[in-house]
Amino acid sequence: MASSSSLSFNLFMVALVLAISIRSTLAVFRPSPWKLAHATFYGDETASQTMGGACGYGNLFTNGYGTDTVALSSTLFNNGYACGACFQIKCVQSKACYANVPFTTVTATNLCPPNWSQDSNAGGWCNPPRVHFDMAKPAFMKIAWWKAGIIPVQYRRVPCVKKGGVRFSLQGNGYWLLVYVMNVGGGGDVYSMAVKGSKTGWITMSHNWGASYQAFASLGGQSLSFRITSYTTRETLTLWNVLPSNWRVGLTYNSNFNFH
Ligand SMILES: *[C@@H]1O[C@H](CO)[C@@H](O)[C@H](O)[C@H]1NC(C)=O
Repeated sequence: MASSSSLSFNLFMVALVLAISIRSTLAVFRPSPWKLAHATFYGDETASQTMGGACGYGNLFTNGYGTDTVALSSTLFNNGYACGACFQIKCVQSKACYANVPFTTVTATNLCPPNWSQDSNAGGWCNPPRVHFDMAKPAFMKIAWWKAGIIPVQYRRVPCVKKGGVRFSLQGNGYWLLVYVMNVGGGGDVYSMAVKGSKTGWITMSHNWGASYQAFASLGGQSLSFRITSYTTRETLTLWNVLPSNWRVGLTYNSNFNFH
């Protein structure tokens, strides 16, 4: 009797510890409160001017971002750490707002740089410390009449809903691996990253620009695994053998896992 009750107590403790550790690794990102800001748009209806932005996502159509994208003022951009973050934006307090549209959802793919030759309240909309959204024109046109030019908005950070796993686009050379991290779900953003070759230990990568991370190491001919930590939730994903040993720069590789 005594041994069976201590066994069930032990099983209970194991289950409890497992439940706590699973809970702590599955940090769920919840929407932030709505705040006030302003929005403008850039480019035209084709959104071709939004390609190749300051996050390094390249062609936004082939990489899954489409035209639901936004350039952030540097106050929000956070030196590229906000790349991939998702926002709901709604037009408020303006005759230009479409009354029947509650909000639209966009992913940060670019920086709206300051222009100090324009006043912060008359054209220099992205000058610090302004919180400003320069939306791709098709995204702006979902919430307001585009001829308004600038509109007051409410915005909030929301979890990014992405199809499929995190994607890795490779650049660099034999001694330097530069990885663009794309299609990130959940917080959408990346805090830190590490790479492991099949013949190496984990190598910490450093932030280069936008959503790219680099390792100064010779990793050719090895299958590569990545460990990525979300900026918003600090949750870490370990993606084993995402790249086969014959990986090449210039290619993009999909993993099977994502943040939520
Ligand atoms: C900054 O504003 C000035 C004045 O309107 C304009 O001529 C210039 O093209 C702007 N610079 C950039 C980089 O947009």
